[in-house]
Amino acid sequence: MAKFQRHLFICINERAAENPKGCCASKGAVEIASALKKAAYDRGLKRVVRINKAGCLDQCAVGVTCVVYPEAVWYGGVTLDDVDEIVERHLIGGEPVARLVLPAERLTGRAVTPDPSS
Ligand code: FES
Repeated sequence: MAKFQRHLFICINERAAENPKGCCASKGAVEIASALKKAAYDRGLKRVVRINKAGCLDQCAVGVTCVVYPEAVWYGGVTLDDVDEIVERHLIGGEPVARLVLPAERLTGRAVTPDPSS
C-alpha cells in the first residue's frame, strides 16, 4: 500500500442558500478539489500526495478551506487561481503559500484533525 507523503483535505460541504453560515461548496470547492487533484496527478504526485474531499472543517467564514498534513497548514479563501501555486509551491516544494495560510489564532470552532491514515 502506498504511503503518501502529504494529505490535503478540502472542505466541499454544502448548505442551503439561506443558511447564514454559508459553505465552501457555494464558493466553488468541488471544482477546486477536482482541479487540485488533476494538478497534483498531472505533476506525477498520484502516489505521493493524496487529495481528500472533506466535510465542514469549521472555518466556513473563510472558505474555501483546506488543510495539508503532516504540517497541519490551514488555507482559507482558496480559489481556482490558487491551485497551481499550492501544488507547485507547497505539495512539491514544501513551502506553504503564505498569503493563503490561516494562522492558528484565526482558526475557529472545534479542533479538526482529519485522520490522514483513513
Ligand atoms: S463549509 Fe467549509 S469549512 Fe465549513
